[in-house]
Parts: sequence; structure tokens; C-alpha cells
Amino acid sequence: MKAKFKAHRDYVIGEISPKLYGSFIEHLGRAVYGGIYKPGHPSADDMGFRRDVLELVRKLNIPIVRYPGGNFVSGYNWMDGIGDKFKRPRREELAWSSIETNQVGIDEFQEWASRAGSEVMLAVNLGTGTVEDAKNLVEYCNFEKGTQYSDLRRANGFEKPFGIKTWCLGNEMDGDWQIGHKTASEYGRIACEAAKIMKLVDPSIELVACGSSHSGMETFGEWEAEVLKHCWAYVDYISLHSYYGNRDGDTASFLGCSLNMDAFIKSVAAVCDYIKAVKRSDKTMYLSFDEWNVWFHSNEQDSKIEKWQVAPPLLEDLYTFEDALVVGCLLITLLKNSDRVKIACLAQLVNVIAPIMTENGGKAWAQTIYWPFLYTSLYGRGTALRCIVECDSYETKAYGTVPYVEAIATRNESELTIFAVNRSLENDIEMELDLSDFGEMSLVGHIKLNCADLKAVNTAVQPDKVMPSKGKTENMTATLEKHSWNVIRFRIK
Ligand code: AHR
Repeated sequence: MKAKFKAHRDYVIGEISPKLYGSFIEHLGRAVYGGIYKPGHPSADDMGFRRDVLELVRKLNIPIVRYPGGNFVSGYNWMDGIGDKFKRPRREELAWSSIETNQVGIDEFQEWASRAGSEVMLAVNLGTGTVEDAKNLVEYCNFEKGTQYSDLRRANGFEKPFGIKTWCLGNEMDGDWQIGHKTASEYGRIACEAAKIMKLVDPSIELVACGSSHSGMETFGEWEAEVLKHCWAYVDYISLHSYYGNRDGDTASFLGCSLNMDAFIKSVAAVCDYIKAVKRSDKTMYLSFDEWNVWFHSNEQDSKIEKWQVAPPLLEDLYTFEDALVVGCLLITLLKNSDRVKIACLAQLVNVIAPIMTENGGKAWAQTIYWPFLYTSLYGRGTALRCIVECDSYETKAYGTVPYVEAIATRNESELTIFAVNRSLENDIEMELDLSDFGEMSLVGHIKLNCADLKAVNTAVQPDKVMPSKGKTENMTATLEKHSWNVIRFRIK
């Protein structure tokens, strides 16, 4: 098959926010305990953080990590996780029916994040929590000294404020599974009041209001509109969450799920713009796609996990090669919408629906989805370009007509980079590249991710079954092998 790809230096989508490559760590399963934190592990550092995991995380170049939930945050008292570790309470953790030991809290997590080279994106509890708890947490983290909570932080050994800039006003408050679930107007009101008081403590913070838990929610659209009517003046972003899966074994459809993500983003942007008009506002509401990934492999095994364990192996999806193709398509979709999506968090980071897996006492390794995330995070920086892709399409049950090629180009001062997925399960595609507007260029390299077995996984025993290798681009024609993810880099002279 043949395709054509054209990019032009003046056809710009927008600046790519570095925070598009964020991730997420929740107190859920083995994400924290056994994942990032395991005192006594051979690789543990002075604070009990796994160095092997930190090394894999650092490579991903993740600017921001959302914490501590997720559903967990809606029943969490942040005060349980500070101070003397021996005095911290063990609690029933009701979102995931586990036991929370509170050995890691905000003090430890902000230290972990700084060792990982990331900022923290901190969620406040608007389920069982109050507006005052949210205010106290901002004071604890960001106020310098001389007040009850800032002095408590200093007494706990942290002289300098943490300076946390990005905050989530609760999590998925539209969902009836959420502890403290609310109607849109109930949530809109509390989000508004929490936002107001949090910004009184620290006017420099940015706030994310909860959008819908996914685009299939009955209240989707109305929820965003009602919430924003209440808190428009005080918030900077609205959140989107979406998880995809290949439950019917229909790979061709599954590979098209990024079309759903694209439509979701455009719908939420439209609702934001509607409220902007109603409010006669000149502010643009940005989008925080703060949970996205593939999630379905572990659903069945999770229903059998015994309740009330410490760090049970929940949501441990073992990702296949085809999942990596989907993650590649979803990343391209985020880039295509980078004028509006300014934060995105791959959910999650370690063990729980994650690119990085660990054995409690043993190894850490990269799952298949690690690779497209790594290279997009490394090279998909700067400006996203509006590209023209001419290619054939195919019909799917779930997502209608889907083009065989998903692709985008990004550029910075010295490089132009193309990310492309060939969704065809049968045919290689020769993609002709028209980049003539950029003048003389030289190929830096073509990396591809491909595997004959779509269901191949990386495991502790065989961590390198799905690994990137060298792709072929010659004479401005890129070979996109059947079912492959590709990154092609050019130096601009
Ligand atoms: O990421 C796993 C869970 O998915 C989160 O806790 C929740 O916000 C979402 O439903």
C-alpha cells in the first residue's frame, strides 16, 4: 500500500505543553508499596524508594505525576500520611477494599517525584473531604512559614515549601462509584469554593476541575457545562479520562479507538467554548486528559482478589504488542490536540495499568507500552504541525471508518520528527514524505516498534520480547511495516 504525508512549517497546531507527557501514581494495588517504595529491596535508596524503578521512570522524562488518586483520594485524609511513620494509622481503604498503611504520604511522595525529575500534580479530596481540608493542604505544601500547617511541614523536616503548582479538585465526582459522589451542581459549588480558598492561600496555583469519568457517562456534556458554570472564574483546566480495551478480540477496531479519544477531546473543548460564550469570557479553558491508557486485561482477575490486603496485585495489566500500537495512536491524538490539551497523564506509572512492572523483591522491567511513550516523550516536543496524510481506510464495528495511517509531525529548532502508526494487519505501507518546505534535511534515524505476534508481552523472565529496532526511510519514503509504530527524525539544516 502507498500513502502520502505532507507537513509545512507554517501550518501549526500549537505549542506542545511539556505536561502532555505526565503520568499518575495512585495509592492502589502495588503502585506505591512494591512499586516505587520497597524498603529492604536490594535497590532501595535511603528513603526506601526503588532505584531500579526510578531509573526507568527518569528515562521517560515525565514532567508531572498526578497523586494520590484516582478513586483513592475521595476517602483520603492527607493528615494520615505525614509525621512519624510509626504513629501513622492503618486504615480500611474503601475505594479499592485494601489496607492503607500510610507509610508514604505527601512528604515522601514529593521527595520521590523530585528524585524522578518530576513535579507533583496533587489531588484534594472533595468526596469526604472539606473545603477547609483542601485549604490546609495547600498551606502545608506551599506556604513558607509562620502558620499552623506550614510550621507542621517544617516540624516534619521540610523547611522549604514544596511549591506544588497544579492541583486537581477531586476525582471523577460524576461517577456513582466515587466516595462522596455528587451531582454536577453539588460538585460545581464545592469545586468553586475549594478553588477560591486554595487560590487565596496561593494565587499562583493552577486548578483542574473534574470533567466526566468517560465520554459514555449518561451526564457527559451536561456535567461539564454545569460544573463550569459554577467554577469558571477559578479553574484553569477541566479533566478528561478514558480507557480502552480489546474485549471482543477485534484488533482492527481496537486500533481505531484513538478516533474516539479525538472526538471526546473536541466535544469537551466545544462545551468549554459554549460556557465561555455564555460567560462573555475571554479565557480559554484548557483540557487536562489526566487519565488515559489501555485497561482491560486485569478486569477478571481483579474480581477474584481477596479484600483488605496491603498492596494487593490490582489492575496489573500485562500489555501486549497491540496495546503498544494503541498507546502510540493515543499519543499522536494528544499531539494533534495539543492546542487544547495542555496536561495529559498516562494512567498509571508503575504496576497498576503501567508501563513499568516490578516483582516485589525482584526485578523491574519495561512493558510494551513503555516504548512509544518513551520516544514520544523524548522527541515529541516543541510545536505540533497540522499535517496532511493521504491513505486508505477500513471499516470497523466500533469506530466506523478508520484510516490505516495515524501520523503527526512535531518540530523544534533543529529537528522535525514524524510519529506514524500503520494500523493495517496485512500490508506494509510505503509513505512518501513531502517535507520540501523545510529545505535541506538529513535523516537522524527511524525507530520502529513491531512484532510478528500481536499478543506478545514483556515479562520479568523475558523483558525484551517487544523492543524497538531500526526502521527504513530512504529517499523521503518511509516504510511503515504492517502493524508498526514508527518515529522518524530529521535534522533541519
Ligand atoms: O486509574 C484507575 C482508576 O480509574 C482511578 O482510580 C479512577 O480515577 C479511574 O476510574
